[in-house]
Amino acid sequence: MQALLVQLKYELERFRASEKSIESVFIGGGTPSTVAPELYEPLFKMLQKYLSANIEITSEANPNSATKEWLRGMWKLGVNRISFGVQSFNNDKLKILNRAHSPEDAIEAIKSAKEIGFVNLSLDLIYATLGDSKALLKHDIQTAFTLPINHISAYALTIEEGTPFEKKPHMAKETLDITTWIFEEIQKHGFTQYEISNFGTYQSQHNLGYWQYKNYIGLGSGAVGSLDQVRLYPTSNVENYIKNPMDIKSEVLTQEDIKIEKIFLGFRSIVGVHQNILNKEELKRAQLLYTEKKLSHKDDVFYNVDYLLADEITLFISS
Ligand SMILES: C[S@@+](CC[C@H](N)C(=O)[O-])C[C@H]1O[C@@H](n2cnc3c(N)ncnc32)[C@H](O)[C@@H]1O
Repeated sequence: MQALLVQLKYELERFRASEKSIESVFIGGGTPSTVAPELYEPLFKMLQKYLSANIEITSEANPNSATKEWLRGMWKLGVNRISFGVQSFNNDKLKILNRAHSPEDAIEAIKSAKEIGFVNLSLDLIYATLGDSKALLKHDIQTAFTLPINHISAYALTIEEGTPFEKKPHMAKETLDITTWIFEEIQKHGFTQYEISNFGTYQSQHNLGYWQYKNYIGLGSGAVGSLDQVRLYPTSNVENYIKNPMDIKSEVLTQEDIKIEKIFLGFRSIVGVHQNILNKEELKRAQLLYTEKKLSHKDDVFYNVDYLLADEITLFISS
């Protein structure tokens, strides 16, 4: 936490942050709920004058470590949104995912957060794992909607390098059918899909900021920052980061890199793609997709009508 403070001071200068210029804060990880609220206090003190009014401040949390005390402590610091890593409300599935919490822990943690005052509450669900059935996923979604949440993130299980599942690739079982079905099930409950994995009556300002290609400070070991054309990578080795929080590698993106990223992010979300960033050929291809009703168009911006085709559309337009 002290190393984070050192890096924060450095980044506020690098980004020439002015008073009230920070639009959103997101505490992610790892698992922020394993760190006591008082250890975040110096960071919030240093950030105070840079925070805009009515700012969205989110923290991720795992149900087993998000105690009432932790939630109350984060609330007092100014955190006003919690994203709970629930994953499922099925005990056997939580065991398969090797999660440390029970469905009851998750339900209690979310209800506690509401009692403490949090209005913006989100939960994460993981789907397309071995053992998943529509009945199981339906129960997960129905249980989620009995809770005081206004946002859901739904992720298909991916096999990540360097994780125990790497040796068990069969754990991930995504099919177009199950993904399409889960998107529809969540929307049946009145949550709008505003990005390929995100649904709600509330939209996360922080996530939207990434997709709108805004600059962001990335604090911490393994985090990523973005300042105009430069991507910033603090060392992902925690010990080295503590020794030297300024051990940050930078990558200068080309205009082409940035354009591809804007197209990719724009078609995976409600942000869309402004026609001004497209060259003549790309614009022609976008207009073709528009005539085929695969894209809509409003105020010089192309919008994707089916997020499941986002990657193909990006490849087609930028090829
Ligand atoms: C950045 S992670 C937060 C880390 C969190 N503390 C955890 O335990 O996973 C945010 C969310 O990503 C999702 N996630 C984590 N690992 C995943 C995987 N291998 N495949 C798909 N989603 C994953 C989970 O829903 C998790 O709540």
